[in-house]
Amino acid sequence: MEERRRRVYGRRLSHRLRPGRQALLERALPALRIDLPEDSRAQIDLGKLFPAPIRDLWLEIGFGAGEHLAHQVRANPAVGLIGCEPFVQGIAGLLRHLEADGTANRVRIFPDDARLLLDRLPDASIGRLFVLFSDPWPKKRHHKRRLIDAETLSAFARILKDGAEFRWASDDGGYVEWTLEHVARNEVFALSDRISGDWPQRPVDWPETRYEQKARAQGRAPVFLRYVRVPR
Ligand SMILES: C[S@@+](CC[C@H](N)C(=O)[O-])C[C@H]1O[C@@H](n2cnc3c(N)ncnc32)[C@H](O)[C@@H]1O
Repeated sequence: MEERRRRVYGRRLSHRLRPGRQALLERALPALRIDLPEDSRAQIDLGKLFPAPIRDLWLEIGFGAGEHLAHQVRANPAVGLIGCEPFVQGIAGLLRHLEADGTANRVRIFPDDARLLLDRLPDASIGRLFVLFSDPWPKKRHHKRRLIDAETLSAFARILKDGAEFRWASDDGGYVEWTLEHVARNEVFALSDRISGDWPQRPVDWPETRYEQKARAQGRAPVFLRYVRVPR
């Protein structure tokens, strides 16, 4: 498999980290970070990712400040979670939650472009996928920057287990339409909720993220989509 060099659009570091956060990052990240195997054709050995066996492995792409990921790992004690986020302030935010909750041993962090990680995950290895409020890039000339495209969706289809759930949210109507169309074209995902009239509401086991709060405060109603990976 040819390693794809990707460009992450958006922020990695918006300002200097506060000394406490910098120290936390230096102390806690090395043990949790996923480094891709040097052989560009090799996949990650998921059996060696966590110190203790886990029942299922979930993935969150673009976890932002980490509050949703921290909630899921707290609420699902038998599950391991991989979080992808290139934004350093966000990674420090997640680490703070994990330290407070004592859940770091079931989380691994990929601090780079999620698409580099997707290429190195084995087929049918992920039991649930979260992509919440990924950057909408509303201007037409920026649409090619959107995370959701045919290539990313076929990577999702490959890594998800049969029957696995793919959760997606956005507050941008254009990105909602784009995603509904792209996912429908892919043909291996089925919508869990029927869309007729009102959009589906956020399920109770899906806590509000900081981005959702901001969207609501600015008068934008988010849309929550749940798909199932159709059995192979
Ligand atoms: C609008 S924010 C939403 C954050 C969070 N999910 C929430 O709901 O609050 C989108 C996040 O996706 C991250 N992101 C953007 N491109 C990414 C990529 N290629 N791989 C992983 N994360 C990415 C950004 O750094 C940013 O933190």
